[in-house]
Amino acid sequence: MNHFELREGVLHAENIPLPRIAAEVGTPVYVYSQATLVRHARVFRDALSGLKDPHIAFAVKANPNLAVLKILQREGYGADVVSGGELARALAADMAPKDIVFSGVGKSQDELIYGLETGIGQFNLESEEEGIELSALAVQHGKVAHCALRVNPDVDARTHEKISTGKAENKFGVPIHRAGEIYAALAALPGINMRGIAVHIGSQLASLEPLETAFEKVGLLIAQLRTQGQTVTHADLGGGLGVPYKSDDVIPRPAEYGAMVAKVTADWDVALSFEPGRVIAGNAGVLLTRVIRVKRSSNAQPFVVVDAAMNDLARPAMYGAWHDIDAVVPRGDRTIAHVVGPICETGDTFAMNREMDTLEAGDLAIFRTAGAYGATMASSYNSRGFVPEVLVDGDQFAVVADRLPAANIMAAERVPSWLK
Ligand code: LLP
Repeated sequence: MNHFELREGVLHAENIPLPRIAAEVGTPVYVYSQATLVRHARVFRDALSGLKDPHIAFAVKANPNLAVLKILQREGYGADVVSGGELARALAADMAPKDIVFSGVGKSQDELIYGLETGIGQFNLESEEEGIELSALAVQHGKVAHCALRVNPDVDARTHEKISTGKAENKFGVPIHRAGEIYAALAALPGINMRGIAVHIGSQLASLEPLETAFEKVGLLIAQLRTQGQTVTHADLGGGLGVPYKSDDVIPRPAEYGAMVAKVTADWDVALSFEPGRVIAGNAGVLLTRVIRVKRSSNAQPFVVVDAAMNDLARPAMYGAWHDIDAVVPRGDRTIAHVVGPICETGDTFAMNREMDTLEAGDLAIFRTAGAYGATMASSYNSRGFVPEVLVDGDQFAVVADRLPAANIMAAERVPSWLK
């Protein structure tokens, strides 16, 4: 459910007609709905109501906009961060350090120190090497770091190969069959408090089965660790729950996910935490674009050329991902067309042979489900600037990220003296 709906023939974000945002802010522009974000945050929390005090850390990578983080902070969410930049954002949104978990295979020394100095709640260690390094840094800085060991359960999440993270050949976590030995080695080190296990097998998961298999393996590992005399008080079950990108996509509901988790973890006796990203933000945002022109030069379907491109919304080019495309003021007739951006490569294609609303030059359209992994994955390819972001709340809206024009990016570049 989301708040981007037709009212009297015009698509609105909550109570704001999208043409108004296009007129005031220009296109392309990302538009987020606060009511949708809040709703998703609550639905996910309610889905976990069968668990004792679950901790929810929003995966900042999905949508790091400060206004979005602030909404989630107000909903009691913490943050799952994977860089110093994301950690700074979570803190800027007033997330309590204790509610922040630091994931990622390549935390640099500076980032580990930043996390230590900030006193974050948990480091999810992705290797024995990282744990050894963090231990030394913690001792040097007079801190104790709470840590979970991320395991790689070798489970196929059955999602796009580029966003699958839990197979043996993926770079994430330590092989689960070596976890007992690595956990024990790290638990013996000073400066770090090994307290749990973390797992995340991939994103946009359309089935609960692989998650359940992975969690069962984690349950067995926790029992094994305790038999070895280790202390395990926490388990971080990651994120990954998918969202419907097409109207007929069948995705497990958060409540089904919560029930599965409650069943599998019933006798774990640990504090559970979660790192949802897409399920919170995905359907809470659209990318609003304007048609530049319609090319009808061949006998085949027309090319609808829009002002958004692969640099603004990378998912179709990167993963062949589907985003629904709807006219903002539909004329009532449908057509079959290709939808492309202005960038000079064929990968800059949003849809081929798509059955969709008829669009003409000057019309506005939206790419739906662009609230997660949208603006955050933008680049300035083809010397295009960065698209602005707008947040809508009922009858009001605000620009929550300025357009960053190509000129500003060029202004940060220099021609060295020897070339002048
Ligand atoms: N936790 C960890 C450790 C992760 O690596 C991720 C996502 C999440 C949580 C959140 O997963 P979610 O609930 O959003 O599925 N750019 C890709 C998605 C990459 C996801 C990377 N990790 C896309 O546009 O589909």
